Amino acid sequence: MCGIVGYIGEQQAYPVLIKGLHRLEYRGYDSAGIALINPEGTLSVNKAKGKVAALEALCADKDITGTIGIAHTRWATHGEPNTTNAHPHYSQSKNLALVHNGIIENYKSLRAEMENHGLSFCSDTDTEVLVQLVEYMQVSHECDLYTAVQLALKNVVGAYAIAILDRRNPDQIICARKGSPLIIGIGKDENGKAEFFLGSDATPIIEYTDKVVYLQDEEIAIMDRIGRMDITNLANVKQTPQIHTLQMNLDQLEKGGFPHFMLKEIWEQPNALRTCIRGRLNVVEKDVLLSGIIDHKERFINANRIIICACGTSWHSALIGKYFIEEATQIPVEVEYASEFRYRNPVIHSDDVVIAVSQSGETADTLAAIQLAKSHGAFCYGICNVIGSSIARATDSGTYLHVGPEIGVASTKAFTGQVITLALLGLAIAKEKKTLDEQMFHMLVDELQQIPDKMQWTLEHNKHIDQFAQIFTYAKNFIYLGRGYNYPVALEGALKLKEISYIHAEGYPAAEMKHGPIALIDEEMPVVVIAPKRGIYEKVVSNIQEVKSRKGKIISVVTEGDTTVKEMSDYCFEIPDTRDCFVPLLAVIPLQLLSYYVAVAKGRNVDQPRNLAKSVTVE
Ligand code: AGP
Ligand code: GLU
Repeated sequence: MCGIVGYIGEQQAYPVLIKGLHRLEYRGYDSAGIALINPEGTLSVNKAKGKVAALEALCADKDITGTIGIAHTRWATHGEPNTTNAHPHYSQSKNLALVHNGIIENYKSLRAEMENHGLSFCSDTDTEVLVQLVEYMQVSHECDLYTAVQLALKNVVGAYAIAILDRRNPDQIICARKGSPLIIGIGKDENGKAEFFLGSDATPIIEYTDKVVYLQDEEIAIMDRIGRMDITNLANVKQTPQIHTLQMNLDQLEKGGFPHFMLKEIWEQPNALRTCIRGRLNVVEKDVLLSGIIDHKERFINANRIIICACGTSWHSALIGKYFIEEATQIPVEVEYASEFRYRNPVIHSDDVVIAVSQSGETADTLAAIQLAKSHGAFCYGICNVIGSSIARATDSGTYLHVGPEIGVASTKAFTGQVITLALLGLAIAKEKKTLDEQMFHMLVDELQQIPDKMQWTLEHNKHIDQFAQIFTYAKNFIYLGRGYNYPVALEGALKLKEISYIHAEGYPAAEMKHGPIALIDEEMPVVVIAPKRGIYEKVVSNIQEVKSRKGKIISVVTEGDTTVKEMSDYCFEIPDTRDCFVPLLAVIPLQLLSYYVAVAKGRNVDQPRNLAKSVTVE
């Protein structure tokens, strides 16, 4: 969480930093702050509780000149979200200012130690400990800032991406990372003068340059005004930076006429999925090609087991992936919450394949799960959206979603992108293992190809959801039901509603109702049922009947033309027919729209719901 931006060059830093903070606001919006060194050499820090807009309002009558600066948008972990705890944090002498993303786990003992040395602290954050420690090292070792940072970081346990300014040296920014992402953009201004940008991801950078360096764990970088960048690691070994070219464009980061990123991303799904399957699904040759598998096919053919680690929405897509991969390949698949897996001494064999599913590729728990699996010799595969992200780099091989940047905090197109990518993966393994008969394989390939068009149909036919979302704003609870492939869709529908409308919602396998949750049903309770005319349709119909008899309000997702469930329902959304295993790709769309419109009707901040952040880079 938290977004870091930095700039050094000839331009005024403030506009670059503020724009960058807006782009990174999805990562946290508890507070925002900015540090600048003005031409007279004053290091000013301005910070405000809440959104970046509040910081802008605060800065309206402040001195915001300066061609070097760092800025931060916070998702609080230590210390309540207020102005004092906002970043940047000053050191005691106010010579240094620092921004931080991550958690310093041993901050209490470090703080106590420094308090014993007479230092005093203003905030409750773990971050302030870092900046004080750097200054303490600088003074006690009489060393330069770079060495002081290195010494300080050697004493730190935890995760960090940091950037530091020193009032006495307005010509350099120092930054470092371990566990939290940091990207350095290398640019040239219009006069050909060198400039550097910093970002927690590439979105604040892409407008100025497409040349970037992904800082690696335990690396410290100095960027100076004359275009020099030095990177060394904590062990003081000089590193050669690898320069990458970004493959993202600015349009992808704008709302394109939609009121919210979430709605834009919901509507983008058909095209996003077309891009995702392009070059991978070949209907003419009836083939599936995933380069990440081709080069390592023996690992998959010989895998005794696949373990998929993920969090949140990605965990839901992993569950759908499990059902499909098991059916198609006969390899047992386990799905794990990455946060549980990493801490519970799981059994991992060297012939296991461990797959991480993560939109951001930065989720701390998922990254740690992969590191654990690697240490046991398992083959690790990453399914990420963000190119060059930590998980993508930490895995042995993988497949990118290619659904474009997802900005809305509630994941939509990444979810369907993950589901379709896992389906491609299942098919690619099945092809190698010959576990599907040819006819079935061809049929699945043909059907998968049609999914983007069917998604478009689903979107067009469910536009009207906005007209009755208002009806449900009264609800305090929702239940979502589904069976088989649609049970994870029920979980996902419930999560979407919870995170953006703040209405409590639970997803259950429909048949589990009778084992307890049915006690919750009364005339107030909306029950969303995914009931396509596929699989165990009749059983689901009986489950609906059970709810109806207890006066629950039925909102159903049915196959186009179905009348049985429609007649039993208070509200009904149609989706086109498709094979069982691909229904989630269509059924989730009305649920995304429902949660979106209910949240809008309740006046919620859909793209930036309270307490959440897009990228969870803390444990
Ligand atoms: C989804 O809407 C979420 N906000 C969240 O559950 C997310 O899916 C989870 O944090 C995992 O993120 P990742 O895919 O980037 O790893
Ligand atoms: N731990 C720091 C704070 O609470 C940074 C939090 C984060 O990176 O999410 O201010």
